[in-house]
Amino acid sequence: MPYTDHALDVPEQTAVAAAAASAPSVLNAQPWLFATGPDAVEVRADPLRAPTGTASAERDVYLSCGAALFTVRAALARLGREVRVSVLPEARDPLLVARVAVTGDGGDPAAAALYRWVGERRTNRHPFRPEPVPAGVFTLLRGAAEREGATLRRLDAEPEYQRVLTLIRRASLTEDDAVREDRAARLTAGTPAVPVENLGPVPRREGRDGDTAVRDLAPGLGLPGRGTAAFEPHPELAVLETPQDSPASWIAAGQALQRLLLEATGHGVAASFANQPLEDADLRADVSSSAAHFGHPQMVLRLGYPLTRPPAAPRRPQHEVLRRVGR
Ligand SMILES: Cc1cc2nc3c(=O)[nH]c(=O)nc-3n(C[C@H](O)[C@H](O)[C@H](O)COP(=O)(O)O)c2cc1C
Repeated sequence: MPYTDHALDVPEQTAVAAAAASAPSVLNAQPWLFATGPDAVEVRADPLRAPTGTASAERDVYLSCGAALFTVRAALARLGREVRVSVLPEARDPLLVARVAVTGDGGDPAAAALYRWVGERRTNRHPFRPEPVPAGVFTLLRGAAEREGATLRRLDAEPEYQRVLTLIRRASLTEDDAVREDRAARLTAGTPAVPVENLGPVPRREGRDGDTAVRDLAPGLGLPGRGTAAFEPHPELAVLETPQDSPASWIAAGQALQRLLLEATGHGVAASFANQPLEDADLRADVSSSAAHFGHPQMVLRLGYPLTRPPAAPRRPQHEVLRRVGR
């Protein structure tokens, strides 16, 4: 079959896979595989890489793959390609997260514009400036989430804010030993999943909100080179929610997450996450029921203006995650 004008050449396929692999993922597990060809890019889930023991393990894999999927869309739009996205296209193959078929030239200009921030985005676990995200910027982030079928709910009512903080605190205190040990092993491996510079400083316990909302992924590990710091006193928190709670919803939430994080990066806003109450089924139910409506919480975000920019977190070598198919 002859190549069409809009077929992806090998360097383009490589670039799309590299961009996709830079998406955020649970504990930097990168639980994905990409199959690229001239006419399509597929995103597959690799659940064996997921952190073990949490109630959210399966969901986190689909969320991570959803973030990679949005990045594939942005990269293809940047390359001037029109696409057709089929989410979970094969009922018998639930690990096939999506097939993105290249259908022509063109591409969504909004997604193409966001591509610019793919290499700049970082999860930032360092202190933020003690000032709120302006309402106008938050509206843009909410709009980004909505375009992917999710809701970004700002926790701006004090009782609810405090309630979620309490759930975050409780989750940290009641976490299973096995979950903690699995994470510790990943953080202290020869090549740690999240290096010390990306973990950020140990929050100084001063009994303030900030200490709770900043998730210390390595409590008590005493990693060399890790300082301590006081964080912003009243972190900005938001919950990303979806109307349903299925693999398709998790993929949508992952796409919404990456879309809003890229939008945020473009406005100088950084994020870290405090997902610990979502990793326990009972506490997650409490995060939902604390809302006035019945969205399913997928991510708890801390948003703000960074003081420090961490380096890019490491990624698996491309040969481990990329398979070339087709002509
Ligand atoms: C589903 C999901 C859950 C996450 N949960 C947390 C979390 O609770 N705390 C945290 O600090 N980071 C969390 N992260 C961020 C990842 O740890 C981060 O994306 C990864 O280490 C790669 O770093 P990067 O985002 O800077 O590229 C989560 C990311 C995803 C996609």
